[in-house]
Parts: sequence; C-alpha cells; structure tokens
Amino acid sequence: MASLVSTLMAFHLIVLMSCYLTRTTSGVFSKQSPLFQSEKPIEKITQLHFYFHDNLTGRNPTTMQIIGAPKGSIGRFGTTYMMDDPLTEGPDPSSKIVGRSQGIYAIASQHELGLLMVLNFAFNDSVFNGSSLSILGRNLVTEEVREMPIVGGSGVFRYSRGFALARTFMFIAKSGLAIVEYNITVLHV
Ligand SMILES: *[C@@H]1O[C@H](CO)[C@@H](O)[C@H](O)[C@H]1NC(C)=O
Ligand SMILES: *[C@@H]1O[C@H](CO)[C@@H](O)[C@H](O)[C@H]1NC(C)=O
Ligand SMILES: *[C@@H]1O[C@H](CO)[C@@H](O)[C@H](O)[C@H]1NC(C)=O
Ligand SMILES: *[C@@H]1O[C@H](CO)[C@@H](O)[C@H](O)[C@H]1NC(C)=O
Repeated sequence: MASLVSTLMAFHLIVLMSCYLTRTTSGVFSKQSPLFQSEKPIEKITQLHFYFHDNLTGRNPTTMQIIGAPKGSIGRFGTTYMMDDPLTEGPDPSSKIVGRSQGIYAIASQHELGLLMVLNFAFNDSVFNGSSLSILGRNLVTEEVREMPIVGGSGVFRYSRGFALARTFMFIAKSGLAIVEYNITVLHV
C-alpha cells in the first residue's frame, strides 16, 4: 500500500513537473491578437487616383537608364531605369503635384515588354504628406490595364496591402514620355 502511494505521488510529481516545464517553455515566442477589437473594424479602405509622368528626355529627365542591356540580351532584357517622377491630380503635367514615384523599373522578360516595378509612391499632399506606398509587381506595358500589388506603406498607410491598376494615358516613344493613370485601392489601419 505504502509503495503504491509513493508510486502515485511520484507519478503526480512527474505530471506536475512536465506541466511546469511546458508552461515555462512555451507561449513567449510570439503573440497574436484579433484584428477586430469589439465590433468596430480597425481597418480603412483608401482609393487614390493620379497620373504618373515619366520623362526620359530633355535637360532634366525624371528617369534615367542606370544599367544597359547586357551583350547578347534579347529584347533589351536587363535594361534598368531609376525614376523620380511627379504624380499629379490630372493628366496635364502642370496640374497639382500630389507626390512622386521613386524607384526602379527593369525589363525582366525576354519575350515581351514585361517590367519589374520596385517603387515607392511618396505623397506630399494633404493628410498623405509624408506617407508612402510600396509597389512590387509585374508591369506588362502592352496590356491596356496592368495590375500591380501594393505590398506595404508608411505613415497613414501603415500595414497597407492592396493593388494598383495602371493605364497608359499617353506615350510618345520619340521623346520617351509616358503619362500613366493609376487607381490604387488599399486596406490599412
Ligand atoms: C520632359 O522633359 C523635357 C526636358 O526637361 C521638358 O522640356 C518637357 O517639357 C518634359 N515633358 C513633360 C511632358 O513634362
Ligand atoms: C509637393 O512637392 C512638389 C515638388 O515635387 C511641389 O511642387 C508641391 O508644391 C508639393 N506639394 C505640397 C502640398 O507641399
Ligand atoms: C509636408 O511635410 C513636410 C515635412 O514634414 C513639411 O515641411 C511641409 O510643410 C508639409 N506640407 C504640407 C502641405 O503639409
Ligand atoms: C480609374 O477609376 C476611374 C473612376 O472609376 C475610371 O474611370 C478609370 O477608367 C480607372 N482607371 C484605371 C486604370 O483603372
């Protein structure tokens, strides 16, 4: 009887110790909380509409080629440009500037005019002043409307995710000028 009691006690001790060990070695690595607090949604949806002016020519081009096509490249594959393009409210280049598009685009396809876009839209208008959105996407410029993912943002756009729809409004190959309409939809806090 006594030996049975001590065996049971030892068994309980082992169970208690293993509980103690599991408790102290788990639950501290990460923490999650629900996205919705009470019934009030904490995310907003914002839609933006603007025009992007990409000017490769003249004395003050807004875009410059920084890497040329490597030898043997097909379809200028590998050519890379850096831009700092104004974003305006309307298609007219003299309409109100709401921000700039700063980043890189590169010819990433050997078979069509497919661009890799890695850029930040840096806004300086109204409540968006100082906030930015980041795009990382594929831009098949021969398509009428291209969709690119918005992968993040800063300022009022913290935690952003969404998409951009782009349509070429005007393109003059001879002078390297492109005006592109953008519609952006993002969810953010
Ligand atoms: C493109 O840049 C050139 C040189 O800076 C300028 O003369 C021209 O007006 C620009 N075009 C547009 C539409 O901004
Ligand atoms: C935003 O920046 C542009 C220059 O890129 C400037 O012309 C414009 O006045 C600025 N807008 C505001 C609201 O500060
Ligand atoms: C935008 O932010 C900059 C830097 O914080 C500030 O100098 C400027 O006055 C702001 N412009 C507007 C229109 O709020
Ligand atoms: C952007 O939205 C406006 C208004 O809904 C629409 O007229 C225009 O065609 C859209 N453009 C793109 C590129 O989605």
